[in-house]
Amino acid sequence: MKITEALLAEHVVFHSLFDHLEATLPRLKTLAEVKALAELLAVLLEAHSRVEDVLIVEPLEHCLEQLGQRETMRHEHQEIDGSLARVSQSRSLKEARRLLLEAVLFSRNHFDQEERLIFPMAEKLLKGKTLTALGESWAEKRKALVT
Ligand SMILES: [Fe+2]
Ligand SMILES: [Fe+2]
Repeated sequence: MKITEALLAEHVVFHSLFDHLEATLPRLKTLAEVKALAELLAVLLEAHSRVEDVLIVEPLEHCLEQLGQRETMRHEHQEIDGSLARVSQSRSLKEARRLLLEAVLFSRNHFDQEERLIFPMAEKLLKGKTLTALGESWAEKRKALVT
């Protein structure tokens, strides 16, 4: 499997999670529930970003840097992490809900950007063999994360 296919498959799972969060958040009645969901999203995003950084962003580092995209990505990650961190410090249900929805929106935009720009760039600039080798490293890393 190519790294772009593997990461896109991960994105599909996140898109379902984003849909679920947007649908259920307005109905949640306690701050603890909102915080638990924010924590879950933070943990999943962290694992995804770590793998993505090493296996697709680093191999494209040079081009991304030139296009100013490296900085944009860093900034977008900070926005998402910042909103999620503020959910965990929040004392009001309304505010926590608003911040988590904001984090979902930031994440959606960020994921779209990766799908429209980063993944096609990898497909274009890296050789088929490299994409597959990176896909194998992805499988290894994912195995290492669960064992
Ligand atoms: Fe990312
Ligand atoms: Fe991603």
